[in-house]
Amino acid sequence: MEKAGPDKGNAKETIMAALSGGCVVGELVAGNPGLARVFEKLGIDYCCGGKQTLEEACRGKGLDLGAVMEHIHSSAGGPSTEMVDVSGMSLTELADHIERTHHAYLKQELPRLQPLVEKIAAKHSDKNPQLPQLPIVYSAFRCELEAHMAKEEQVLFPLIRKIDDASSDGACACGGIENPIAVMEIEHQHAGDAVGLMRRITDDFTTPAEACNTYRAVMAALAELEADLHQHVHKENNVLFPRAVTAAHAATHATVSARK
Ligand SMILES: [Fe+2]
Ligand SMILES: [Fe+2]
Repeated sequence: MEKAGPDKGNAKETIMAALSGGCVVGELVAGNPGLARVFEKLGIDYCCGGKQTLEEACRGKGLDLGAVMEHIHSSAGGPSTEMVDVSGMSLTELADHIERTHHAYLKQELPRLQPLVEKIAAKHSDKNPQLPQLPIVYSAFRCELEAHMAKEEQVLFPLIRKIDDASSDGACACGGIENPIAVMEIEHQHAGDAVGLMRRITDDFTTPAEACNTYRAVMAALAELEADLHQHVHKENNVLFPRAVTAAHAATHATVSARK
């Protein structure tokens, strides 16, 4: 993983001072990446569910808003986390970063895990009767995610880089840039749902007593894959995509103004 970006201490302090139940969860993490770990621990969805307010997220999880805000405040001054601060990156740098880190990781990890998931389902269904479902869900998840990354790398990200270097206003064969982004966001939701289903099938990625080391390694790898997916989707849904839409609108506006 890449090193953290430029120091955004002042921006972080401003965000924390303005913390309220009306703050949007994804925007909070975009301004203060360390909060990703806090939300992971609390089970608050900051990626696919990143458009909800903190109050809505707490209500959905049955959490006390005041206690969560306390927790956020006490965690905000803590040590920095592994999550890279992408707020200082240009659109091109962010698209490059996502490809080099999250996409590269998934391209290695998704095929590596496939035979291991099949192996534990074949050998350990006596310890978890739901386990035969795991390779079925995993295969569909892998297939959709690999196709999804290809669409981002071949269509959407090149378009975003063109918006960034001002050679495009985001218009494409499928209309404005909002259209391919809407499709990507639906596919993110599918991936999040599939990981949630794998979590339920495996009792929160738990290794039963007397299961083999492969079982343990697969549970650890799936938990890591889930955490990485949350960060990956957060960077796209809550940072890259809204900034690309804003830049595309600005480019369209500039073109229209120049014609007048
Ligand atoms: Fe991606
Ligand atoms: Fe994506």
